Amino acid sequence: MISTFPRVQRWSCYEGFWYFPMFLEGLMSAQDHFIPQSTDIFITSCPKTGTTWLKALTFAICTRSRLSGSSASSLLTKVPHDCVPLLEYDFAQNPMKRDRAVPLVSTHVPYSSLPKSVVSSCCKLIYICRDAKDAFVSLWHFIADLQRSKNIEPLSLEEAFELFCSGISSYGPYWDHVLGYWRASLEFPEKILFLTYEEMKKDTASHVKKLAEFMGCSFTLEEEEEGEVQKIISLCSFEKLSNLEVNKNGKHRADTSFAMKNSVFFRKGEIGDWANNLTAEMGARLDYIMEQKLKGSGLKLPR
Ligand code: A3P
Repeated sequence: MISTFPRVQRWSCYEGFWYFPMFLEGLMSAQDHFIPQSTDIFITSCPKTGTTWLKALTFAICTRSRLSGSSASSLLTKVPHDCVPLLEYDFAQNPMKRDRAVPLVSTHVPYSSLPKSVVSSCCKLIYICRDAKDAFVSLWHFIADLQRSKNIEPLSLEEAFELFCSGISSYGPYWDHVLGYWRASLEFPEKILFLTYEEMKKDTASHVKKLAEFMGCSFTLEEEEEGEVQKIISLCSFEKLSNLEVNKNGKHRADTSFAMKNSVFFRKGEIGDWANNLTAEMGARLDYIMEQKLKGSGLKLPR
């Protein structure tokens, strides 16, 4: 199905979710060819919900034992998206091309459309989501920035909001994306860890320890005493990452038609920025939609 909204006609709907064609093609290829390693951990999310941060944290956690004195983290020289590949993009042309030493793969694909090879594997999944209003505002800025950089006139905030509320957004409907992973996390708690951006912001230390435990590489007492958790939090903080030279001036997928500045992944990194962009009525409307959609699921997203 193709969108009938004139300004987003290039978007396609597959199994109830909306995609840019390039990512849908990548998903089709991954569904046919991608075979995970048994040790893989999937970083899963709807776009703009904290993926960059979660990639940085999980990458820093699982590579920490390889770093000693002289060997600095790749996070200092690469944007987190270049440290953790995206299933439906990076494996689209070459499904098996990867750094096998890093057991991390990311995807925005909804749970119900994940390749069977992933769902039926013993791989673990970590999902992050966020208040819908902040996710929408973050997404709008991201897409508008990208479009302006290519001299394309972006949708107005109001137009994009109408579409988002009707379920049309990148990998949306947002609520169905969240609900798919939420329900799966209830069914398979040892396989899927469900997190929120807001809770992670409020208590990052306990989440870093929880992540390490879930990933099977808990911090030792010695590491905790040496401040390893705090080092990882500082390295992956918005302030640290957004101020690195590579993230201020570097480019992601520089040699492709989908090149973008690394800085687009770092905007404000705050909870509640929606209020500076949406009216109170728009906020209340999206809250109401989310409440109705999540009703009966047992999930209440923090705001
Ligand atoms: P804002 O646009 O609200 O600032 P994603 O990584 O899924 O694309 O999500 C992007 C959002 O995460 C952006 O939110 C971005 O600023 C924020 N973000 C990026 N890096 C972060 C970090 N290290 N810590 C906290 N938030 C971060």
